[in-house]
Amino acid sequence: MYLPSASRYANPALYRRCGRSGVKLPLISLGLWHNFGGVDSYENARAIVRRAFDLGITHFDLANNYGPPAGSAEENFGRMLRTDLAAHRDELIISTKAGYDMWAGPYGDFGSRKYLISSLDQSLCRLGLDYVDIFYHHRPDPETPLEETMGALAHAVRSGKALYVGLSNYDHVLTSRALQILRELGTPCLIHQPRYSMLDRWPEANLLPLLEKEGVGCIPFSPLAKGLLTNRYFEGIPADSRAGHDPRFLRPEHVTDAVLEKTRQLDAVAKARGQTLAQMALAWLLNQKAITTALIGASKPAQVEDCVGATKNLHFAPEELAAIEQILATA
Ligand SMILES: NC(=O)c1ccc[n+]([C@@H]2O[C@H](COP(=O)([O-])OP(=O)(O)OC[C@H]3O[C@@H](n4cnc5c(N)ncnc54)[C@H](OP(=O)(O)O)[C@@H]3O)[C@@H](O)[C@H]2O)c1
Repeated sequence: MYLPSASRYANPALYRRCGRSGVKLPLISLGLWHNFGGVDSYENARAIVRRAFDLGITHFDLANNYGPPAGSAEENFGRMLRTDLAAHRDELIISTKAGYDMWAGPYGDFGSRKYLISSLDQSLCRLGLDYVDIFYHHRPDPETPLEETMGALAHAVRSGKALYVGLSNYDHVLTSRALQILRELGTPCLIHQPRYSMLDRWPEANLLPLLEKEGVGCIPFSPLAKGLLTNRYFEGIPADSRAGHDPRFLRPEHVTDAVLEKTRQLDAVAKARGQTLAQMALAWLLNQKAITTALIGASKPAQVEDCVGATKNLHFAPEELAAIEQILATA
């Protein structure tokens, strides 16, 4: 039987308010996109989730299509909820999403009310839950009226199947319209989930200022650039790494000399701060006011431990920030 660490909430500074909402999120959240599917080791996945919860991570992020096969990460997490975390449901913020391809035919992707509501019902079934804490629209739909998609999110909350709603992969223009519609529907948007890391800074120009102004939280995904912003690839491409064994989104050709040159220089700055590169990459995001929590992935419990260690030093001296800017500015 799993007994979570009694000291998991010992550090209140680990939690930050999500925008202008009533809910706080841990500075590090765990995503179950990779390494939690039906093809992966269930016991390893379970060990990662247990370690995360022991360290005070209360937020676990899923989507209908996480696996492979699609749906299996929710099934696996549902199993862990039953066996390990049943007594702790009210300590958890569990999110899921719909937006990408999920089932065959015209109703299994994008942003119709038909797809979103059916998908949420399926997710609840796989997770074995009555409600999720956050239900996201996973990506914009260029064809469905935004009013219909936002109406479906608001309906999910009104029907008790979700407590809050979120947007993912929306640019600032669409986000601004969506926030207004959601507000009019009486379901303010809790959080936005964009891709954002030291190596991919698109949200900085417009999205982050908008979220701050509107009081919406921000949870950057792939904050370690899928592993590139870590020491994972300094000695070649390990067989058990994402680039080494799962060619879906990170392939060996993405681990370029230019990326390695940059990350080695960043690693030197991190070492001088007494951090690993992963820790500094996360601290750099969390040093910004607009950011609520960094949404990491992990293939081992030790990686979660390392990432949570980032929260011990979120402060950057101006010279450190300048050195990082200079490294990031090089081609
Ligand atoms: N909304 C969206 O469209 C969207 C898209 C993508 C992801 N997401 C969410 O974001 C979550 C995180 O995405 P991600 O997995 O790409 O995030 P990430 O944190 O950028 O990358 C995670 C990978 O980095 C490596 N890693 C993590 N911590 C490490 C450490 N301390 N030292 C060395 N290596 C470390 C591991 O790679 P190895 O596996 O090689 O060990 C791990 O699998 C997903 O699970 C999902 O919930 C959302």
